[in-house]
Amino acid sequence: MPKTLHPIGIFDSGLGGISVLREIQRLLPAEDLIYVADSAHAPYGSKSPEYIRERSKRVADFLLEQQVKVLMVACNTATVHAVDHLRETLPIPVVGIEPAVKPAARMTATGVVGVLATQQTVNSPRLHRLIREYASEVQVIAQACPGLVEHVEAGDFSSEAVRQLLKHYTLPLLEAGVDTLVLGCTHYPFLSEAIHDVTHGRMTVLETSTPVTHQLMRVLALHGLGRAEGRQGEVQFFSGRQDEQHLISMQMLWQRAVTPQPLPEPYR
Ligand code: DGL
Repeated sequence: MPKTLHPIGIFDSGLGGISVLREIQRLLPAEDLIYVADSAHAPYGSKSPEYIRERSKRVADFLLEQQVKVLMVACNTATVHAVDHLRETLPIPVVGIEPAVKPAARMTATGVVGVLATQQTVNSPRLHRLIREYASEVQVIAQACPGLVEHVEAGDFSSEAVRQLLKHYTLPLLEAGVDTLVLGCTHYPFLSEAIHDVTHGRMTVLETSTPVTHQLMRVLALHGLGRAEGRQGEVQFFSGRQDEQHLISMQMLWQRAVTPQPLPEPYR
């Protein structure tokens, strides 16, 4: 089979990467897609960089076995800690996702930008390098948000508990003058409405699923790997979790019926 007909592999620690998956399906409808939710190991954001690297490599190896032609790391935390390693070790192109710090630095009127991300993304030298390179003229406040990923994994986008948590993370940013807020975790776009509510729409919120899909399109074109249009591609899901609650959350996020296959041993 020519390489162009092979699927695109996409993974996240859990369900957050579905925010990227839906954009990929929208902009590349002819492509077959395989999505892996490493949900038995979510959240990555509270694990060590070594653990994140090891899990990312394991999931990537599974996707390679499925003959994917390109790998999309639909997880900011895995990107900051594992994308270099994946690029060095995998025989296919790898696309990572990074917080939209650069456009935010251009857009801010107050000169103060906020970034919401996982603890391990906030801790990473890669995020600090990104800020130094692209946002040195403005002030960037990176806020770690433990707990948010768990709410999204549980299909909870608007409970009082998640709103309280969002207030706790965003109100200090508003007080500090943030007018542009970057969602640096692929789970957080599912909380956009709640963020808008608790901040009364006082910040412009940026997320990265569209620009990263454009990057994926450039990479496919560069390597001559894009598939001809005129068909509807298939989407296959694999997950490390098979329980009822997980399935319900997945369907809520994907917004249609989905039957995830179990991530097999030794990749679980
Ligand atoms: N969705 C992920 C990200 O973009 C990781 C969340 C987590 O597992 O902590 O950072």
